[in-house]
Amino acid sequence: MSDMLPGDRPQYVSPHEREEALDLDAAQRAEPRALSNSEIQDRSAHVAGAKDAVIVADDLTAGYLPGVNILNGCDLYAKRGELVGIIGPNGAGKSTLLKALFGLVKVHTGQVTLSGEDITNVRADRLVSMGIGFVPQSNNVFPSLTIQENLEMGCYQEPKKFRERFDFVCDLFPALGERRAQRAGQLSGGERQMVAMGRALMMDPSVLLLDEPSAGLSPLLTDEVFVRVKEINATGVTVIIVEQNAMRCLQIVDRGYVLDQGRNAYTGSGRQLATDPQVVHLYLGTLAQA
Ligand SMILES: Nc1ncnc2c1ncn2[C@@H]1O[C@H](COP(=O)(O)OP(=O)(O)OP(=O)(O)O)[C@@H](O)[C@H]1O
Ligand SMILES: [Mg+2]
Repeated sequence: MSDMLPGDRPQYVSPHEREEALDLDAAQRAEPRALSNSEIQDRSAHVAGAKDAVIVADDLTAGYLPGVNILNGCDLYAKRGELVGIIGPNGAGKSTLLKALFGLVKVHTGQVTLSGEDITNVRADRLVSMGIGFVPQSNNVFPSLTIQENLEMGCYQEPKKFRERFDFVCDLFPALGERRAQRAGQLSGGERQMVAMGRALMMDPSVLLLDEPSAGLSPLLTDEVFVRVKEINATGVTVIIVEQNAMRCLQIVDRGYVLDQGRNAYTGSGRQLATDPQVVHLYLGTLAQA
């Protein structure tokens, strides 16, 4: 699906512009400026790509407090069946973007649509019933509940779905079925991530939002999580994944976004981004040479 964006290279703000953006003094002194050509190009590529996408965020500003924006004009789309990655430095707004899609952070301006329907600021529980699953970055299982009870919580809105979806999730993650009576609090970090993803799959979502599913895991378990994410995606679920393991993330996604200071800095196919010298230099560092 990486051929959705025109051009062979990702579009990006120039290194000069980025350096200026990183210089806080300069940023504070700077007058509001017109969009650069590359940013305008970004937007038109976004508009073209978003046309038949299943989920779209258009020019979002959003934040936790009135009048304070963490996202400063973010665009994102995912087509049906796509695996889309979001990478970027700590504090860039990656989690905030996922939360804005999922109704957990107030969108101040801009729009989120799901299959063409406006879902901006719709409540998370409604979004779950509309087909969006969300796995937050932390505290994403109920530790005192068993694996099975965690999965039951995943479809509390439609308990009748439980049997069929439990079988589906246990096909994907056989260990969850085998250990269904074990409390989630006794599981390893990797196993908890499987429970958290399984829980989000219980409502048969069309779009799954994953916030750093490999956080805190060993390289081996990280690889396993990525394999699982690919498997989930292969069942037809559109997946948007935020990852700190940027290089690994770019290796598995169809398309990616680099977020920086609440804005899209770069976008392109996973391969384009992973091999772009500027992205490598600015965001992938030594990992890229690994
Ligand atoms: N609940 C909150 N209330 C107020 N500000 C918040 C809240 N959560 C995050 N922020 C702020 O929003 C900004 C972006 O945070 P966010 O968690 O979206 O970044 P991130 O890109 O996910 O970072 P990380 O890689 O560390 O997970 C940060 O400045 C952070 O301090
Ligand atoms: Mg985060």
